[in-house]
Amino acid sequence: MFSNILVPFDGSSTAENALHVAIGLADRKATKLTLLYILNEYAAIGEMQMASPSLYLTHMEGLRRHGNEVLEEARIIAASAGIEARVILCETRVRRAADAICEEAAKGYDAVIMGTHGRRGLQKLMLGSDAERVSRACTIPVLLVPQVSTPYAIDSPFESMAQHLEAARIRARIPDDAPRVLPKPRMEGGMPLLSALKLRRSVRTFQSRPLQPQILSDLLWAAFGINRPGDNRTAPYWRHVKVIEIYVTTAEGTWVYEPARHRLLPCSTEDLRDRTGTQDFVALAPVNLVYVAHGERMTNLSMQDQRIYAGVDAAFIGQNVYLFCASEGLACVFRGALDPVMLARTLNLPEGQFVTFAQTVGFAPM
Ligand SMILES: Cc1cc2nc3c(=O)[nH]c(=O)nc-3n(C[C@H](O)[C@H](O)[C@H](O)COP(=O)(O)O)c2cc1C
Repeated sequence: MFSNILVPFDGSSTAENALHVAIGLADRKATKLTLLYILNEYAAIGEMQMASPSLYLTHMEGLRRHGNEVLEEARIIAASAGIEARVILCETRVRRAADAICEEAAKGYDAVIMGTHGRRGLQKLMLGSDAERVSRACTIPVLLVPQVSTPYAIDSPFESMAQHLEAARIRARIPDDAPRVLPKPRMEGGMPLLSALKLRRSVRTFQSRPLQPQILSDLLWAAFGINRPGDNRTAPYWRHVKVIEIYVTTAEGTWVYEPARHRLLPCSTEDLRDRTGTQDFVALAPVNLVYVAHGERMTNLSMQDQRIYAGVDAAFIGQNVYLFCASEGLACVFRGALDPVMLARTLNLPEGQFVTFAQTVGFAPM
């Protein structure tokens, strides 16, 4: 049994296969697992032929973000199998990725497990042909995992990863009613506020492709996540009483966002998107957020006032979502065109709770 495994990881389906092999070989309690993402700066320059220094810096920032995203998603896959993995994003300038992997491997690991091919089109940035070089140059055992045709091996590394997360949950025998782990939200970066305001708009046509786990995580944090100690939130709310809960409806089911642990609590395994509004696009768009109010928490208020204050609370959240979407190049629209009574019944809301508004989020058509 290996006790300290290094898995070079670039988000490709082959790297994911290697990760699953590593998880299979690991002893949940005794094995340390490290996920390594190599970002080769010179390869990036060569690949993108960037002329302008500012464009180059933006490009590098994008690659760094991508690296952190795929590492976080891989960490979640390992965590869902009961293994706490460490992640390393290694930036190299002059060295080949293979040499950086061997250098890390020499730091006390007892095996390297990696895919034979990297991401198509970006191979030079990450693993690719380096696999062979690692197998020759490394001083510890190297297990090369070939590309295998699995139902999850599809072109987009993001979609592939989302499906693997689901597969990992199933393999780890996490029941459907278990909370869904979200990657750590990104609380910095994005577009300057004034630029986001300039781009903010309602969009009503969507592609059906799902949001990546990281984007969903960031979106929910931006909407109504905790941004400072004391359960304080990114949006203001009436009298410091948290009235709004966000229901997240997707093709895979419906969850309730739990800001305190930044995770999703299961509500239904059904696809309820088409019940969240009267416009056709709601059934196709990947995510419909439903802003549900806990009227029972608004003591001494008439029903009419409850609706006013809950509506205002939802609107602040809605504007956060608008600005996040503008910053991320996503499409969204805040919606009142829904049947609140039918939707409350569909979501099984207890007495006192009611639906205020909904908001659709996804990718605009190309
Ligand atoms: C309270 C409220 C309810 C809304 N309901 C809907 C709706 O049901 N469907 C829709 O397509 N847009 C809806 N919108 C979006 C508005 O139509 C949109 O914000 C407005 O036309 C201005 O366009 P803009 O957001 O692109 O600037 C709603 C907006 C608000 C503030």
